[in-house]
Amino acid sequence: MNVAHDAKQVSTTRVAELTEREERAFFEARKRSVGLWQEARHLLPMGVPSSFQAARPQPVFIDQGQGSRIWDVDGNEYVDFHNGFGVMVVGHAHPLVVAAVNRRVAAGTHFAQPVTEVLGVAQDLSRRFQQPQWRFTNSGTESTLDAVRLARAFTGRERLIKIEATYHGHHDSLMVSVEPPPELIGPADHPVAVPWSEGVPRAVVDLVSVVPFNDLEVLERTLERRRDEVAAVIVEPVMMNCGIVLPDDGYLQGVRDLAHQHGALLIYDEVKTGVTIDPAGATGRFGVVPDLVCLAKAIGGGLPCGAVGGRADVMAMIEDGRVAQLGTFNGNPLTMAASLTTLREILTPAAYAHFDALAETLQGGLDGVIRERELPFHVITLAARGGVTYGPERVRNYRDYLKIDKSYAYLSWLYQCNRGVLMAPGAEENWTISVQHSEADVQRYVDNFAEMAAELRA
Ligand SMILES: Cc1ncc(COP(=O)(O)O)c(C=O)c1O
Repeated sequence: MNVAHDAKQVSTTRVAELTEREERAFFEARKRSVGLWQEARHLLPMGVPSSFQAARPQPVFIDQGQGSRIWDVDGNEYVDFHNGFGVMVVGHAHPLVVAAVNRRVAAGTHFAQPVTEVLGVAQDLSRRFQQPQWRFTNSGTESTLDAVRLARAFTGRERLIKIEATYHGHHDSLMVSVEPPPELIGPADHPVAVPWSEGVPRAVVDLVSVVPFNDLEVLERTLERRRDEVAAVIVEPVMMNCGIVLPDDGYLQGVRDLAHQHGALLIYDEVKTGVTIDPAGATGRFGVVPDLVCLAKAIGGGLPCGAVGGRADVMAMIEDGRVAQLGTFNGNPLTMAASLTTLREILTPAAYAHFDALAETLQGGLDGVIRERELPFHVITLAARGGVTYGPERVRNYRDYLKIDKSYAYLSWLYQCNRGVLMAPGAEENWTISVQHSEADVQRYVDNFAEMAAELRA
């Protein structure tokens, strides 16, 4: 991260001018995507399968992927920095995943009975995340849903404490203050719990207390005020749905200590950080082991997946039948085959060395451009994950994030898209690289960024 340089403001008219030009170029080169989206809007609300895919200027329809590259339906080629919202750290159509899945397809895809691979996957996750017991799910949403149920059952309490602006999936319990509108959030030291969607019962929202990230004082006060009510504190140890927000030194340890002092569990949502920022996610990178950990995305090698791991005494609630943890497709053979290959054969120490080398190229290259052009931006890289924050200061919580002008991130998205790098949709600007990305692939992002920086200053 680099924030110690002289930064000068960029003219907003210049940003608007460039954005308009880049939007025109975007539509010019994507006529088939435009047509498909128009058709899709008659059939699917917003024209997409999940509302997260409906970002400005419009969805890009993808045809296929191979290695670090994807091609859209208009034939445009991209280095994939989106990687399916952080899933594809193995890259597209990895030969080992293709072989493992093909073997499984030919041998039957679904039994709803355990297959041998479930042991290997659970063993590997146990070793990485220091949790003795595991259950599988089909998504991050299901993983956090199960973790919340376990924590409530184990403690006999119902209240949850969550961090303002973390997303933990789309089940009701945690659809609170995910991206709350500034006019509704209340004071920084006592954030209001704001439902993220209509249809979430008020009674469920009322069971959630919201606290700012990186603030142990407010957390302690909330635990005191809600003495004997709190089942769990759930955190995303590095916030990744509003840029990349790192925990302060000692913060995660402090959260665990406070939770335990008050008889509550600590749940990590490692759906995005797990196996991407370290072989053992944030658990490994920061050395604080939670009571329950939620995984999904990258652990499945590109197939729908999820897992919840935890302390033996907590997971015993499932063993003795007091907690129902269920799912027809849990541990399904296709996902287990892809997952075992991903964990054992692809995400090896060499893979993390490769991520670190590419992260260094990105960090060094982008820091250089930012310094040279005196831009009010900074860069954070964490192995396979990283991003540019379009502000000069480190973001520590949602209130800081709100101060950032999102128009730069949108311009950058268009700029990269028109020059062969596809970023995740939305203004959060963070990337995922894969084992199949090369130095030249990440250099393309740096070169595009340098071109944008020069134009911003022109
Ligand atoms: C931190 C975090 N938790 C949970 C989820 C939900 O995962 P899924 O979309 O697989 O249900 C997401 C999805 O983006 C996420 O980023």
